[in-house]
Amino acid sequence: MKILDGKLASIGIIDKVREEINDILLKTNGRIRLKVDKPKMAIVLVGSHPASESYVKNKTKACDNAGIESKIIRFQNDITEEELIQKVKVLNKSEYDGFIIQLPLPEHISAPNILNEISFEKDIDGFSPVNFGRMALGLKAHRPATAYGILKLIQHYNIETKGKHVVVIGRSNIVGKPIAIMLGNDFNIGRSTVTSCDINTPKDLLVQETKRADIVIVAAGVPNLLTEDMVKEGVIVIDVGINKLGDKIVGDVDFENVFKKASWITPVPGGVGPMTIAGLILNTVDAWKQRNYIN
Ligand SMILES: NC(=O)c1ccc[n+]([C@@H]2O[C@H](COP(=O)([O-])OP(=O)(O)OC[C@H]3O[C@@H](n4cnc5c(N)ncnc54)[C@H](O)[C@@H]3O)[C@@H](O)[C@H]2O)c1
Repeated sequence: MKILDGKLASIGIIDKVREEINDILLKTNGRIRLKVDKPKMAIVLVGSHPASESYVKNKTKACDNAGIESKIIRFQNDITEEELIQKVKVLNKSEYDGFIIQLPLPEHISAPNILNEISFEKDIDGFSPVNFGRMALGLKAHRPATAYGILKLIQHYNIETKGKHVVVIGRSNIVGKPIAIMLGNDFNIGRSTVTSCDINTPKDLLVQETKRADIVIVAAGVPNLLTEDMVKEGVIVIDVGINKLGDKIVGDVDFENVFKKASWITPVPGGVGPMTIAGLILNTVDAWKQRNYIN
């Protein structure tokens, strides 16, 4: 076995979530508690970015499979930042257990300004400062969904991370930075020696690091950034990248050639993408349980 199959792992997670929700609804709607509704998630979509439309469709499909109600809330591309902040404030007080703002937003809107307004209880993408801070401190939090999904994939395949040298290429707030922090935290899936690289890392230093890495995680958005000559035999490779090359979707890794050296590798598509959605679903169920005081 060589392929870290995110599609398969995410189906397992979503099946378990559905069972858990059903169990809770059966128990809580019996004699003891007041009625609890199914979990509800909202997805805010501004404008009509073709890739975003497809991501949103996959998210609503996963919600259906998990037994979570979902709603897409659409706004025109010309909504102002202030108007969108007002909509977020309304959602913070709404019946939804959690909601996400599908990125990217139009250029005239600052994503950090919007994400900063989401109440941390409903921030199921795990991007708000409170959730990010709690995650970094190793406290209970809605964890950034892609990084959370990667941890779950590592866990699904029983990959040892303790004491391993992990190189993360890419340091964005939504992927590279949180996965580097989480793998460095003192948890079962963690306790790694992490090197975090970005565009400023000189190429020779980057190659020096990747060549001695046990695990390489690439989240840069650059096709073929990680090549066969940059990794050692037996390396584990997690490719987060999603790039359009002609009519093909590719990751950041030269998959065909790196595959020959890797002991485990994620495909693109079918690797990290479905696990991001699994992370989002897990955060939604957590938000629902917390809101309804369910342990
Ligand atoms: N599979 C998923 O679910 C999922 C989720 C989020 C993002 N993505 C994809 O992951 C990629 C990264 O997304 P992001 O939002 O983190 O991107 P970003 O543009 O915000 O950040 C990219 C990071 O990579 C670094 N980088 C860029 N070129 C580099 C190079 N040549 N060498 C080393 N570092 C380099 C940058 O310095 C930056 O830290 C994109 O392709 C995106 O589409 C996939």
